[in-house]
Amino acid sequence: MDKNKTLEKLHAIDRECRLLERTASLLHWDLETYLPPLGVEERSEQLALLESLYHERFTSPETGKLLEELGSVTDNPRGDDKLPELERDFLKRMRKNYDKEVKLPLDFVASAAKAQGLSQAAWVEAKRNNNFAAFLPHLESMIDFARKYSLYWGFEGRVYDGLLDIFEPNMGVQAIASVFTPLRERLSALIKKIAAKPEPDCSFLQSDFDPQIQAKFNAELMKYLGYDTKRGRLDVSAHPFTTTLGSNDIRITTRYLSDNFLSSIFSTIHECGHAFYELDIPKELHLSCLADGASMGIHESQSRLWENVIGRSLPFWEGLTPLLKKCVPGRFDSVSAKDFYRAVNLVKPSLIRVEADEVSYSLHIILRFELEQGLISGEIKAGELPSLWRKKMKEYLGVEPENDTEGVLQDVHWSHGSFGYFPSYALGNLYGLQFFGRMKSDIPGLEDFTSKGNFSPVHDWLKDNIYKWGKRLDPCELLKKVTGENLSVEPFLKYIEEKYAAVYGL
Ligand code: CO
Repeated sequence: MDKNKTLEKLHAIDRECRLLERTASLLHWDLETYLPPLGVEERSEQLALLESLYHERFTSPETGKLLEELGSVTDNPRGDDKLPELERDFLKRMRKNYDKEVKLPLDFVASAAKAQGLSQAAWVEAKRNNNFAAFLPHLESMIDFARKYSLYWGFEGRVYDGLLDIFEPNMGVQAIASVFTPLRERLSALIKKIAAKPEPDCSFLQSDFDPQIQAKFNAELMKYLGYDTKRGRLDVSAHPFTTTLGSNDIRITTRYLSDNFLSSIFSTIHECGHAFYELDIPKELHLSCLADGASMGIHESQSRLWENVIGRSLPFWEGLTPLLKKCVPGRFDSVSAKDFYRAVNLVKPSLIRVEADEVSYSLHIILRFELEQGLISGEIKAGELPSLWRKKMKEYLGVEPENDTEGVLQDVHWSHGSFGYFPSYALGNLYGLQFFGRMKSDIPGLEDFTSKGNFSPVHDWLKDNIYKWGKRLDPCELLKKVTGENLSVEPFLKYIEEKYAAVYGL
């Protein structure tokens, strides 16, 4: 058959799968934002049905046959070398996804999806009631499903490596541990030095802020950063997230804590960073398996770059302060951009990952990375988690939760079986600073643009260097292409150590 016709058929299958995926994303988005509590059970069944339809469509013998006709096999996933580069990248991604998905039995996929929905609902209740015991059987079942996924897919090294591969291709336990060890040592040392210094005054941000006022400001903030609100929206959820419901429908959420205005501000900036990536995926990749970020870690590099490297810089606050004063009249009259800058760079190890400062954040991740390895290998029993959690928190961060809600139950990830996801957050910090180094040398006067609230040069640079690739490259290939380097912990640590030495006068 004509190769173009074959490609057309394969693209049609891919397109249908993406449509099913985004339909499921809409149901998920609703589940996290507006679904009444008793709607959860049937919603889990709806999601499981969509998951099965996706699986059946994607793994039909036709997909395998079309891939083979185009020369794409496991050992040569990019297929026929006469095809255009874009099509070869498409084939590589399709082949990799197909090889994984086809190994999963249909009844396994459906039962995993249903169990995930129920587990997540159980976690919400358990967290609300500080009742780890009620969540434990679900957690055990999620660990069991995760192991089975990895065994079906196959892996090199350990079972956990098979799970890491979905979120961060070519980045196994050993590669991650080799960057996490220096990260842990140098961040812990820095935290100790900072702890000996006086704390900045943050009281002007921590007293009673009406959620409606926060909502008004966050809506302005989105636009200030350059979010096209005709292609997305901002809602509220317990855990802020970004989701792609369509090529022109990319939504973010935030949350409003009346005693912590910064929480909503930085959640919004973080999710905008994710959304900008998705919004500027090139049109030619829309509705295909390449219309995505290179990996979870690369995605996180984008959100954390906006949130921290840009969002916690002095030029950024010079630009934002007038807008904040306008939207929240009377509250910040005597507060300067410099005061905000000091307050948003408070370093204080705390219990909750999502509220953590830039310095201690990665330590939260390293703790989870170590526990996950033990859970998947079986060296740690799920029932031991609360006490191990407390022990490690004390050791790495010097703080200890009084209850499991603020401890082991704080994150949603394990409740839906996403073991192997956490390392991406800390890898994102590392990738982000490597990208930023290049961006800074490519954009003279970057800080002036930032202080004037002009983010076009940043958007353009990210489009030209990162977004344009979608999911065509693996994370290490993208990093090499943009920076000429391999993964390195140095740019991040140098940035952190220099910045906080100046902030705290070390
Ligand atoms: Co994120």
